[in-house]
Amino acid sequence: MLTEKLPKIWYGGDYNPEQWDEATMEEDLRMFKLAGIDVVTINVFSWARSQRDEHMFDFTWLDKIIKRLAQDNIRVCLATSTGAHPAWMAKKYPDVLRVDYNGRKRKFGGRHNSCPNSPTYRKYSVMMAAKLAERYQEEPMLSAWHISNEYGGYCYCDTCEHQFREWLEQRYGTIQKLNTAWNTSFWGHTFYEWDEIVVPNALSEEWDGNRTNFQGISLDYRRFQSDSLLECYRLEYEQLKIVTPNIPITTNLMGTYPELDYFKWAKYMDIVSWDNYPSMDTPLSFTSMSHDLMRGLKSGQPFMLMEQTPSQQNWQAYNGLKRPGVMRLWSYQAVAHGADTVMFFQLRRSIGACEKYHGAVIEHVGHEHTRVFRECAELGKELQLLGDQVMNSRARNRVAIIFDWDNRWALELSSGPSVALNYVDEVHKYYDALYQLNIGTDIVSVDEDLTAYDVVIAPVMYMVKPGFAKRIEEFVGNGGTFVSTFFSGIVNENDLVTLGGYPGELRNVLGIWAEEIDALYPGQSNHIRMTEEVGSLHGSYSCGILCDIIHAEHAEVLAEYGDDFYRGTPVLTRNHYGQGKAYYVASSPEQAFLQGLLEQLCTEQGIQPLLHTPSGVEVSERVKGDKSYLFILNHNEDERSFDIGATPNRELLTGRFISNEVHLAGRDVLILERSSFV
Ligand code: GLA
Ligand code: ZN
Repeated sequence: MLTEKLPKIWYGGDYNPEQWDEATMEEDLRMFKLAGIDVVTINVFSWARSQRDEHMFDFTWLDKIIKRLAQDNIRVCLATSTGAHPAWMAKKYPDVLRVDYNGRKRKFGGRHNSCPNSPTYRKYSVMMAAKLAERYQEEPMLSAWHISNEYGGYCYCDTCEHQFREWLEQRYGTIQKLNTAWNTSFWGHTFYEWDEIVVPNALSEEWDGNRTNFQGISLDYRRFQSDSLLECYRLEYEQLKIVTPNIPITTNLMGTYPELDYFKWAKYMDIVSWDNYPSMDTPLSFTSMSHDLMRGLKSGQPFMLMEQTPSQQNWQAYNGLKRPGVMRLWSYQAVAHGADTVMFFQLRRSIGACEKYHGAVIEHVGHEHTRVFRECAELGKELQLLGDQVMNSRARNRVAIIFDWDNRWALELSSGPSVALNYVDEVHKYYDALYQLNIGTDIVSVDEDLTAYDVVIAPVMYMVKPGFAKRIEEFVGNGGTFVSTFFSGIVNENDLVTLGGYPGELRNVLGIWAEEIDALYPGQSNHIRMTEEVGSLHGSYSCGILCDIIHAEHAEVLAEYGDDFYRGTPVLTRNHYGQGKAYYVASSPEQAFLQGLLEQLCTEQGIQPLLHTPSGVEVSERVKGDKSYLFILNHNEDERSFDIGATPNRELLTGRFISNEVHLAGRDVLILERSSFV
C-alpha cells in the first residue's frame, strides 16, 4: 500500500515549519536532502492556526508549505490537527473540555484534551477533516492521512455520562440484564432506571485509577471510552475516505498503551502506525514485543513507525542519549518486526515550550554538523539503497501469544488476589523466553484464526470470551500445543465467575482443577520441582506472584511445588487432548524455566530457532514470495561472532555474499536475503 506512494522505506517524521520563518524552512529542505528524508508529517497541532473561530478558516499557510515541499519531492503525511482543540473553542463551547477522574472540569490547556462525546468537538473535527480532504485531494504529494494524534485519556463529564447510558442500553437492552451482568445485588446497587447510572470515577465506584467496587461498570466504562474515541476517529475517517479513497488513513498508536482496545481500533485503520519511545533501560525484547503487537493488530500487515526520537526524549525522568549506532539499530529493529517506514519526532527542535529538549534531526545549532544529524543522514542513504526490497514482506511465525485488552482491564480492575500481577509483564515473560531463543512470535487477538500456528500461548487468560474455549479445543484437538497459566478461565466477558471450578471453560482442555489461589508477598517465592523430563528442564526453579493449587484431572503432572503446605501438588501439567497437548503453568516462573519449557514445546512441534546467536544478538524474519529476509541485530556494544551456515547469502546493506562464521560489529545490523524455502 505504501509502496504505491513511494517504493522505498519512508523516511522522515513530524515537522513544524509553522513555528519558523521561510528562510529556516529553506535550510530545512536543504538538510532533508542531505539526510535522505522523503516524507514529513505536518499539521499535527495546527488547528488554531487554520481555524480562528467557527467561521474563519485559513489554509494559505499550509498551501504554501505543501507547495514548497512538493517542489522538493517530499511526500506529505497530512495530519488533521484535531489532537488539541483551539483556545477559542474551549472558551466559547465548554462542552469540549473534559471532566477528569476526580470530577474536576478542566480548563483550556494541554492536548488530547477534548471530550470524545462533545457535540462541538465532533462537529468541528469532522468539518476540519472534510475541509482538508477537499482542499488537498488533488495534491500529488499527499501520501497518507494521520488523524488526530495519540488518542487517549478518559472523560467523566455529563455528556459522557449520558452517552454511557445509551451505550449500555445498546449493549444490554434491558436494565435487568445490566443488573445481572454487573451483579448489582451485591451491596444493594440494583438500578431501576438508566439515569440512576453514573460514571465510575473517584466520586462514585473507583479510586486510585484502577481500584473499583464494581468491576462490571468499570470494565464497561473502559470499553465505552475506547469506543467513544474510536467513534471520533471514524467520523473523521469517513470524511477523508469519501474524498480521497486511495490515500491510506492511520492514527498513531502507542504500543501497549492501556486505555484503548487497539484490536478493535485497527479494524478501522487502513494501516497501523505507532510511536516507539523506549527508555534506555527498556528490555530489548519489550520493544520487539511492542512492534509485534502492532503488527498483530491487523493480522500481520506491515505497519508504520510513525515516531521515534533520533536521540533523546524530554518527558521521561532521565532522558539518556541514544548511543552512537543505537538510533540506526532500533530503526532496523522496527523494520525487522514489520515496519515499512522509519519516522521521527521531530525533524527540527522547537525553541519554546515543553518539547524544546526533545531530540530532533536538526538540533538547536541549526546545521548538519552534529553526531545525530550524521547518523540520520547515514541511515537515510542506506534506506535509499534498500529501496522497496523488504517492504510488504510478512512474518511467518508458528508461535502466537494471545493479547486481549478486555482481559487486561478485568485483571487490573480485579480486587485480589494480588496487586503484583501485571498482565503486560506476564505476557512479556513468555515473549522474552521465545525472543531469547530466536523463535519468532506473533501477538494476536482472541479472535485471530489460529490455524497457521502450532503453539499458542495465553498468559493469564483470566477472562474467557464466548466461543474462545471451543476454538482452543479445536486448535488442540487438531494437533496444536496450547499453554495457559495460573488465574486463567476465571470469568466470562462481564467479569462474572464461571461456576463449577477454575479454570472454568478451559478446564476441559487443560484437564485440571484449580482449587485455591495463593498470593505471595514481595520477596516470597515457591519452587517448581521437575518430576518428569521436559527437554532441558531439570531440578528446581523459583516461581512467585500467584500459585494456583491444582488437581490433575486428566492431565499428567510434570512438576510439583517444592514448598509450603501445597508442596508436592502439581505446578506444571500436560493434557493430551485430541491430537495435541495443553499445558498449564500454575505460577509465574523464573525466565530459565520458561525458556526451557518453550524450547521443548517448540522442538516437539518442529519449530527451530531462526539462527543460533550469542546473547544480545536479535534475529527475526520477514518473507516475501520466494525471498526470506533475516534481520540480525547486535545489541551489544562489542563485536559478536556466529555461524550463518554454508550457503552464501546476499547481505542487503552491502551487496556482499557471506556464509559460515560472521563477525558482527557492536550495534551493527545484517539483513540476509535467502530463499524462503530454507
Ligand atoms: C508523542 C507525540 C508527539 C511528541 C512526542 C514526544 O509521541 O505524538 O507529538 O509529543 O510524543 O516524545
Ligand atoms: Zn466527556
